[in-house]
Amino acid sequence: MDLKKYVALVEDYPKPGIKFRDITPLMGNGEAYKYATDKVVEFAKEHNIDLVVGPEARGFIFGCPVSYALGVGFAPVRKPGKLPREVIEYAYDLEYGSNVLCMHKDSVKPGQRVLIVDDLLATGGTIEATVKLIEELGGVVAGLAFLIELEDLKGKEKLEGYPVLTLMKY
Ligand code: PRP
Ligand code: ADE
Repeated sequence: MDLKKYVALVEDYPKPGIKFRDITPLMGNGEAYKYATDKVVEFAKEHNIDLVVGPEARGFIFGCPVSYALGVGFAPVRKPGKLPREVIEYAYDLEYGSNVLCMHKDSVKPGQRVLIVDDLLATGGTIEATVKLIEELGGVVAGLAFLIELEDLKGKEKLEGYPVLTLMKY
């Protein structure tokens, strides 16, 4: 299936010069959403995953159905002030801004094999922070899956040594 047909390009959003890749048409099409999710599930099955982790908000959209299909848990990575119990934090830079990400301290058990899922890899700041949080909690990052990789932004360079799946490259 040509998934790129379901990704809309929005120029100059949310700031001038940014080419925003909008995945909402893909999510809105049952066949495309299922196809993309199934590809990530196939990849996960090759890596003996115990837990799926996804950064808010778009990482939840693909991470949760993958976790459901595998029959494993899902742990959210969230912006500050959203998780109600004890958290660990990591600060990072984005293509268009900066941020802090948090996880509950008990959301990853030492030794668990974790699949990270997100819609898009740009600078890799979000995902590098997510890897650091998981590893600080003693988890093993066993794979990372993205629908989209923006190759010019070289986020993949931050993920050397980890198995990475990307379904579309721009
Ligand atoms: C977007 C996207 C990725 C991240 C990629 O999320 O969903 O998580 O940016 O960029 P990076 O590789 O440069 O870190 P955003 O922070 O815009 O939040 P959202 O999912 O809540 O829209
Ligand atoms: N997140 C970071 N950069 C993005 C882009 N260009 N399009 C969609 N989401 C993004």
